[in-house]
Amino acid sequence: MLKRKTLFPWSISLTATVAIVVCWHLTEHSQLAAQAPSTARSQRSGAATASSADRLINQHAQQMIGQGRQIFRSDTFGSEAFWGDALQLHKAIAGEKNGGIGGGVSPKTALSVGLKVDADALPDALKQQLKENKVDLDDPATTVALLKLKSVVGVTGIFDNSGSLRSMGIQCAFCHSTVDDSFAPGIGKRLDGWANRDLNVGAIVSLAPNLRPFTDLLGVDVATVKKVLGSWGPGRFDAELDKDGKAFRPDGKQAGTLIPPAFGLAGVNLHTWTGFGSVPYWNAYVAATEMHGTGTFFDSRLADKTQFPVATKSGSSNTRGTPDRVTSKLAALHFYQLAIPAPKPPDGSYDKVASGRGNAVFGGKAKCATCHVPPLFTEPGNNLHTPAEVGVDAFQADRSPTHMYRTAPLAGLWSHQKGGLLS
Ligand code: HEC
Ligand code: HEC
Repeated sequence: MLKRKTLFPWSISLTATVAIVVCWHLTEHSQLAAQAPSTARSQRSGAATASSADRLINQHAQQMIGQGRQIFRSDTFGSEAFWGDALQLHKAIAGEKNGGIGGGVSPKTALSVGLKVDADALPDALKQQLKENKVDLDDPATTVALLKLKSVVGVTGIFDNSGSLRSMGIQCAFCHSTVDDSFAPGIGKRLDGWANRDLNVGAIVSLAPNLRPFTDLLGVDVATVKKVLGSWGPGRFDAELDKDGKAFRPDGKQAGTLIPPAFGLAGVNLHTWTGFGSVPYWNAYVAATEMHGTGTFFDSRLADKTQFPVATKSGSSNTRGTPDRVTSKLAALHFYQLAIPAPKPPDGSYDKVASGRGNAVFGGKAKCATCHVPPLFTEPGNNLHTPAEVGVDAFQADRSPTHMYRTAPLAGLWSHQKGGLLS
């Protein structure tokens, strides 16, 4: 989504919005705390009859969260058939010296295009060497070693018996996780659900030695594909390009949207900037048609020749990949995402008094809360608005079957300023 300050009709600043959202959270938590004792009492009184059923539900919830986390972080859905086997991206990463093609991708380069490293996956000895600057961060062989340790967030290297990189797939965490930089910039503990606004998806994909899957689908040459991939920049991806073929806006600007967070979504009806559908709807869309895993995705709205010519050509509105590596994972994946809370801003990171004043404006004169209804900060119900209602041009809305914009849930907004909210 291109969000331009000039077109956004409200004069209130982002900082003010963040402060308001923060402030509301503080109030809500104290209310919940006040209610807690009576809730506990009512649970105890029902315990004699319902305990085994309740236990079953609790166990189920724990299991779903565990499975969902694993899927979100580690499941490629078979996407190695695309990213590795078809695009040969792993060869460009490894470089000629490590059995691939060209110069390879050093850890320095990988970090510079926004890839993140999970510090918890690194052995202590390696961490020590990193601290002492004894690891060659200019050598692609180090990147391959990091992949072997399963430490590159959202990317799985697939190795053959001799230890050579044979293919690679991607995960949800590629775009929707970052790290807390606690070890070094780009290296730290995982933060699932946070949009990786440093990640330059286009720059990464354009390294692929074989871009034919894109040139064939879009009916353009390699240079054009590279121009499009180069146009997005950090934090953006175009999840509709392979459906409608709209590579650029009519004004010539890039057509990708910012990667949204995947936290704080419980209770929110429609998802994506333009409200394509629910979380499991979109997860199936992404896993089967964007990540190119093998699975099932169905939406007859996309079988519209005029709006989605490329989807009509590829048949992606009725994707039936076999074996289906997606459908059985949608429930746990959904459950896990709904369990990820929007992060709270660190203490002292905002002015509480100003936040209180902002809250009054948000709920009062500025009428923000009529659409961004607390505590969801989106509308319960059909949370969509026409482009005219929100003062944003129709380009992205018209790439969705809804032709509308979804009221963005604002909880945790402070955490996605980096990399250009409203830029
Ligand atoms: C290549 C980057 C990328 C990958 C990989 C990716 N996403 Fe996304 N995701 C996006 C972008 C970009 C959007 C916004 C799309 C739009 O609005 O047009 C999005 C939107 C979403 C949303 C909607 C959030 C909201 O605002 O309500 C959810 C949920 C989501 N993705 C979950 C997932 C899951 C689960 C996976 C793995 C199956 C995944 N994504 C893989 C880039 C990615
Ligand atoms: C008519 C309903 C409506 C009202 C009133 C409204 N918004 Fe929104 N808001 C939206 C919609 C719809 C979007 C998504 C627009 C898009 O995707 O381009 C949005 C997006 C946003 C975003 C971007 C969030 C992100 O994740 O990028 C912010 C910030 C925001 N609104 C703040 C406000 C503030 C502050 C006010 C009051 C001054 C306000 N909004 C009033 C509907 C509304």
